[in-house]
Order: sequence, then structure tokens, then C-alpha cells
Amino acid sequence: MPRIRALLPALLLAAGCGAPAAGFRASSDQSFPAAWRYRVPRAPLAGRWAMVVSDHPTASAVGAAVLRRGGNAIDAAVAVAFALAVVHPRAGNIGGGGFLVYRAADGRSYALDFRETAPAAARADMYAGAAGPFGGSVTGARAAGVPGSVAGLAEMHRRFGRLPWSDLVAPAIALARDGVVLDAFRAASYNDTVVRRLRLFPSSVAALLPGGRRPREGDTLRQPDLAGTLAAIADSGPDVFYRGRVADQIVAEMRRSGGIITLADLEAYRARWRPPLESTYRGWRVLGMPPPSSGGVTLAEILNILEASGPLPRYGSAALMHVELEAMRRAFTDRNSTLGDPDFVAMPVAKLTSKPYAAALARGVDLNRATPTGEVPAVDEGQHTTHYSIVDPEGNAAAVTTTLNDDFGSALVVGGAGFLLNDEMDDFTARPGKPNLYGLVQGEANAIAPGKRMLSAMAPTIVLDPSGRLALVTGSPGGPRIITAVAQVVSNLIDHGMPLGQAVAAPRIHHQALPDSVYWERGGLTADQRRVLAAMGYRFRARPLFIGDVNTVLATPQGLQGLADPRRGGGAAGW
Ligand code: DON
Repeated sequence: MPRIRALLPALLLAAGCGAPAAGFRASSDQSFPAAWRYRVPRAPLAGRWAMVVSDHPTASAVGAAVLRRGGNAIDAAVAVAFALAVVHPRAGNIGGGGFLVYRAADGRSYALDFRETAPAAARADMYAGAAGPFGGSVTGARAAGVPGSVAGLAEMHRRFGRLPWSDLVAPAIALARDGVVLDAFRAASYNDTVVRRLRLFPSSVAALLPGGRRPREGDTLRQPDLAGTLAAIADSGPDVFYRGRVADQIVAEMRRSGGIITLADLEAYRARWRPPLESTYRGWRVLGMPPPSSGGVTLAEILNILEASGPLPRYGSAALMHVELEAMRRAFTDRNSTLGDPDFVAMPVAKLTSKPYAAALARGVDLNRATPTGEVPAVDEGQHTTHYSIVDPEGNAAAVTTTLNDDFGSALVVGGAGFLLNDEMDDFTARPGKPNLYGLVQGEANAIAPGKRMLSAMAPTIVLDPSGRLALVTGSPGGPRIITAVAQVVSNLIDHGMPLGQAVAAPRIHHQALPDSVYWERGGLTADQRRVLAAMGYRFRARPLFIGDVNTVLATPQGLQGLADPRRGGGAAGW
């Protein structure tokens, strides 16, 4: 650490990253609706050198401690991911998958895809006509894709990590073994639906419902089986998960619970490096996640349409929301019909992210009327992916989003191993023509096929200022609402000059083409705004919900700012 400290000024100069970013235009005269509960933005945590912002204060502290010991952003990313798997079980995971967007201090950028894959025995029609609300694509063993998280963390560490692997897993082992005291947010995550789903599986009750009852705030959750699994991963690396003892436990659980993941599926899993998706927004450079996430493409398309719409209407006006909603609708129409796993389908990514294409779409927006997309019933709730953002003292920046998909994934804990399996198979076009868990109606490009990655909406994102310096590391949970939440935070900062607290706390809206309705947050729209939008032809989703949970690090002329979204109990740690 002292050696690295001594190197810092030189490294920072070389990278031009720790140095003040050009900064966002300052202005804070935007007001929120009177009923909006996050009217008073929390002050971001200020730091000169390093910042970690995640969905749990303990996980952020684990990451910051790794950085203090001389670890880099990737070391911290690995440690935070393992910690989240313990302290934030509804979304943090080793049985799911995710994405990393990484920008090194030397200016090079990378994206790592550790998305789950469909098992070899998966078929396009495997959920058609099966029993249950989603035909088995959401709850239980058949919902699970081949997990990618452990392979992804090992791969990012192999390529860029500095501290020993086992040191990065160690904090999570201690948290699982010694127990974590549940805070209000974690206790609230055990809602009726979650408890009912976990009770379907004895292994899940044993791991996550101690004594068979719903844990309460202040209870200590100990996870000895998970501690054992993490210790094996710390000692033996990812092999134990993909071909060793843990792999055997996964396959045994598949046999018990009627799943189809085999040892061969696990052995064949590989995380994949991909070029990040680069776009620009009003001169700022946006590094996004390419397919098999729709995150980068759809974010770029929304921002391009906003840019092509010229200077945006006043913040808080229905006119602004109309432009935003039509941009979202058009980008999601393309997303839902054309995107999928790049190893399986050819996609018009260059066209979808081009400025002329966005300009043509923007010209098609009638300034007085909503463009109807169609009507499909909406289903879904919750915030159950996890995003964290890291900047290290050298100026390396990591944006990581990982997920189990639904709240607590498939609700199935691998017996003896103590971790939840994902239900990522539902992100495929599991039932053609029908909405998935997030109400998305998707096409042939995202059909299930053996070995294929299901299309995601996760959007870990890094933004550089017009002179190429690091400005923003961000991302969110929320399924399709991830993309629109990130787009609104970026626009709030760049177009509306909001300080970070306000940009993140601001109420959000969402449109995903189908269902053809505006998603909104309780208290986030005034009666007047809704009336004006309704007169333009917009329908509103009956029940308001949370839209995103945007955990962000901002680089400003004064240094770093870290802010966990006030919507969901995260925390920032840095100095
Ligand atoms: O990859 C996706 O797009 C989804 N599985 C993400 C799910 C999600 O964000 C859940 N959080 N609310």
C-alpha cells in the first residue's frame, strides 16, 4: 500500500482520471412533485481517492477495505460480488450471472459477459403449456440457466486482479460463517411471495428461513453451507464450482428437483470478453454493455433519440416526459424484436445505435400525441438485481451488475451448498407472444437454444466527459427499467444540470413499448402531469412501483462522489 500511495500522484496525472473531471453544468432549480418521498437528496459521500457504491453498506465497506490494502478496482469488484452473495441474498449471488464494464486508468476499456447459458437439453418450447404462471421459467430447478458469476469473477481477476484470489473471497466467508444482522431493507425483502416461494424447497428453508420462519430486522442470518462453498472456491478457484464438489451438488439438486443442468453444461461454461458498446451523448462518451445485454444498445438508442430531439423541454414538464417516453418506446420496440445472443443471431447493432437512425425515429414523434404500441397485461414487481460502481486510487473504474433475475432467483437453494440458483431462463422468449416476468414481449432473436445466452437489460455504464476523462460509473437493477433509469440519471446530469443527489433521487418514468403504458413511481407524477400525458393518449400502469436503484460514482472537479440510490438501502464507502 505505501508503494502504491507513493505512486499515486504520477498515476493520476498519467491517467487524467483522479484529476477533476470537466464536471457537469451546475444548476439545481428543478423541483419534484410535492408528494415525492425523496425530495431531499442525500448528500453523496465525498472522497479524493477511491469510492465503492453497492446495495449493501457492508459490501461497500468490504470493497473499500480491499482498495485500502492496495487492491485495484477489479480486486474490489470480486470481493464486493462475493460479499453481496452473502449479505444481499435476494440478488447478490454465486448462482446467477452478470456483466462488467471496465475502464482502466490507461484509457482502455473492456466488457466481460458472464451471463448464464441455456443448458444443452433446453428447447425453444420447453415452457409452453407447462403448469404454473410462467410454465416453470421462474420458480424451481428448470428455471435456472448455467451460472456464470463464479467464472466471471475468476476471469476478471485472472486478467486484471492484483491481490490473491483467496483474500478476496475471505470477507464473504467470514460474513456467511459469523452471520449478518438483517437491516430493515433486507428484512423487508422477505415479503409474502418470497417466503411462499422459498417454502417450496426444504433446502431453501434450511438456508434462508432459519427455524422455518420469516427472519426479522435485527435477526442474525448465518449461512454455514454457503461459508463452506465459498471456502472451497477460495481454496480451489472456479474449478470446484464447474467440475468439482459444488458442480456435483448442483447436478444432485437438478436430479432431486427436476432440473436439466448437467456436469457437461457446467464444464462447458465460459465467461466472454467483448468490446464495450461505445456511443456518445451530446459529446460525452458512453461505454455500455453490448449483447447479450440489450443494456448498451437500448441506452444508446434512447440517448441518441433524445439528442436528435434537440434541446430538451423544461425539467418536470409533460413535454419532456413525452419526448422521453417516445424515445423509450421506440428503443424497446427494436430491443424486443431484434436483440439476442450475438453468438446465435445477427443483429443490426450499428444501425440501432447510429445517429441518423435516431434522427429518423425522432422525426416520427408527434409532439402532441402518444404513438400506441399495443396492449399486453403487465406483470412484475421488485428490485432484485444488484449493481455496484467502483473507482480505485489509480483511476480504474468498474461498473458491475449481477442478478438471479427474480427476487431470490428461482427460490431454489442448492442442497448442502447454501446458494440460490437463478431463474434467468425467463429472460428468453420463453413463451412467444406472451409477456415475461417483466412484462416484456420478445421475439425469435431471443428464442431459447442450447448453450445460448438469454437477452438481458442490465446496463453497467461508464461515461467520460467530452475531453475523455472519467465522469460517471453507474448502473441499476430493475429488469427493463434498468435502461430507462440509467438514461434518466445521465440526462438529469447532462441536460438538466442536477447535482448527483438530485439526479438520482428524482422520480422516474418508464416505457418499454409493450405493455403500452407508462410505468411511474408513487408520488413521482403530479395529477396535472398525468392529466396532460393522458390527453396525449398515454395510459398508465395501474400500480406505481420503484424504477431502478442507481448506485453511482461521479467524478467531479472536487474529487469523487459516491451515492447509493435512496430507494433501497445501499451504501457508499470511500475516502
Ligand atoms: O438480465 C435481466 O435483464 C434481468 N434478469 C434483470 C432482472 C432485474 O434487474 C431484477 N431487478 N429488479
